[in-house]
Parts: sequence; C-alpha cells; structure tokens
Amino acid sequence: MPSGYDNTGFLPSQFKHNVACYENLLTKKGVHPSLWYNILVILLGIETSCDETAAAVVENGRHILSSVVSSQIDIHSRFGGVVPEIASRQHISAIIPVIDEALSQAHTDWNELDAIATTHGPGLAGSLLVGANTAKAISFARKLPLVGVNHLEAHIYANWLSGCEPEFPLLCLIVSGGHTDLILMKNHGDYTLLGKTRDDAAGEAFDKAARILGLSYPGGPAIDNAARNAIADIKLPRAWLRGTDDFSFSGLKTALLRLVEAGTITSIENAAASFQEAVVDVLVKKTINAAVRHRVMQILLSGGVAANSLLREQMTLASPIPVLIPSPSLCTDNAAMVAACGYYRLQRGCISGIELDVIPSMALL
Ligand code: KG4
Ligand code: ZN
Repeated sequence: MPSGYDNTGFLPSQFKHNVACYENLLTKKGVHPSLWYNILVILLGIETSCDETAAAVVENGRHILSSVVSSQIDIHSRFGGVVPEIASRQHISAIIPVIDEALSQAHTDWNELDAIATTHGPGLAGSLLVGANTAKAISFARKLPLVGVNHLEAHIYANWLSGCEPEFPLLCLIVSGGHTDLILMKNHGDYTLLGKTRDDAAGEAFDKAARILGLSYPGGPAIDNAARNAIADIKLPRAWLRGTDDFSFSGLKTALLRLVEAGTITSIENAAASFQEAVVDVLVKKTINAAVRHRVMQILLSGGVAANSLLREQMTLASPIPVLIPSPSLCTDNAAMVAACGYYRLQRGCISGIELDVIPSMALL
C-alpha cells in the first residue's frame, strides 16, 4: 500500500482499483516515485473550486505544457460577487472543452498522461464537485492514478512553475480571496501555520474596499489599476497585532467606509492607493519579520493578491531574503499549480481514489 494513502472511507474494490492504477504507473516508470529525477511524468491538473474552470498539462511538476483557464468573471460581475449556483452550472458546460483544449495545446494524447490531479477543497461545494467528479471519471476510465489536492497547497506550488527551484526551509505568504496565511515549509508536505487573518482575508478586504469605493468586481485588480498613477494621501490604520504573526484587515476596511460615508474622499484613485498601501505595508513587514526570525532561505508569495503590483514590488524591494513570486496568471486560480502540487504528492505516494470527496472547508493544516 502506498504511504500517505488517503484512506477516507474507501471500499475494498475501489481500493484495489486505486492501488492498481498506482502500481501500473510504477511499472510503467520502472522506479519508485521518490527516485523520479530524470523520468518524464505528465499530469493533467483540474481546478474548479470557485469561478474559474481550468485544466493544465504539466511535466514533472515544473514545466507547463498548457494551462487553460475559462473565467466566469463577466457573468458574476453583474451580481457583484460569485453566485455559487451559477458557478457550478458554468463549470459543467466548460469543463470538457477546457480539458480538450489543454490536451490539444500541450500536443498531448490521453495515452501520454501518467496521472490526474484535482482540487477537492477548500471552495464552493457545487463547483468542487464538477472538477472532482470529472477527474474521478477520467481516472477510472483511463486507469490513471488520481491525486486529490488542497487548493491552498496548490497555490504554494505555483512557485515551482516559475523556473527556479524553491529552497527549504521557506516562508510562504498565501493571500487569496478566502485566506491570508503565513506558512513555514520545511520540506514537501511539511507545513507549520505561523499566522493567519483574524477576520477578512486580504483578497476579501480588497473586494470589499472596491465595493465601498464604487469600483468593479473583482476588487483586487480594480484597486490595483485605480491606484497605478495615484497618490496614497489618506492616513489609514494598520493592525500590526504585535507579538503574533496574525493579520487583521476589517478595521482598515471600516475606516475607509467611515471616510466615504463622511464625504471626505475627493479622489477614488487616491483612496484606492491609500487602502492598497495600508494592506501591502502590513503584509510586507509582517512577512519579512517572520522570515528573518525563522531564518528561511526564501520567501514565496502565492494566491490572487500576489498578483498585486505594489505587493510584488514592495516585498522584493524590502526583503533581505530572496523572494519568489509566480507570474500574475499563476497567482490567480489555475490548474497548472494543481498539477504541480499533485506531482509532489504523487512522489510521496499520496494517491486518492474513486471515493475522493469534496471538502468545502478543507484546511491545509
Ligand atoms: O487565489 P484567488 O484567485 O482565488 C481564491 O482562491 O480565493 O484569489 C482571488 C482574490 C480576489 O479577492 C481578488 O480580488 C484578488 O485575489 N486579486 C487581487 C489582484 N488580483 C486578484 N488583489 C489585489 N491585486 C490584484 N492585482
Ligand atoms: Zn485560489
């Protein structure tokens, strides 16, 4: 039995199928995955946790052969946020064409795939189900090992696709729509949570602040664009939460709301720049502080907010420790990061099976 097998309620017949797929792969590749160095392993990754339907073909967890993302932003933007029921229906119609497109762009045939990785949490239940069930069907039909991946762990692994190999121990700041986590990573699969947000996630704060300022959805890119040539001339509070590695952004958002309600904002662009500067200031200083304390080799950024131009610039400028940041399209949701993460899980023998279920509130730790 492969080590790290996700033995969550599987039946004996399903278990046999999963192990058989894994053993087929070992026979095909000739050696145990822990010895895969120069052996070609091609994974199909699938991501449908929120409002992007994505599929990617990735070689050895590091080289992207294709990465296709079908975004639903135009559909949800008229509602000012993601509507879960619409999101899952859109995934159903998009998933097969997106997978076909990923295989076609990668010039890869079904027979050339070695395994399939899919996000199964955290995220919207109805959305996750589409990707996970599609992956299970493919795994069953093509006899491919299936790897269930945590969406947050996948965000971290976007950094393995950047062309340089991250060095352990490292500190990763995950800043997405639902999470703001500072994680110490000592090896593949070895995580310690140092701090997290006590209220709003950084992305959530950007989205709410944009709504307060009357900017479009999603708020992060809207604030980033509005702030580009503006002056951060409004004094906004920063929650330092000294003595901890935790974050808090709800006070900052409320302070902005009070200023808007009082009618004291004269420039939306300058208000956007001031808000962005306050968020970035805290993220940068707290991340560097923790990185120095833990004597890490590198700082990694990941998640949608890592696409923010000021955060990318300030973290790189201020850090005495090398900083790795995926390209903006690999910071926001995509399936290449799922395939990269799946490759390293597969190497550790962490396979899932037909019983793989979605876990909407799945935690990384
Ligand atoms: O990682 P992600 O694509 O999805 C989740 O897993 O949540 O992150 C989405 C979040 C949204 O809140 C969005 O507003 C934010 O990332 N975001 C940005 C930028 N691009 C996306 N925030 C600030 N600046 C950006 N350029
Ligand atoms: Zn995400």
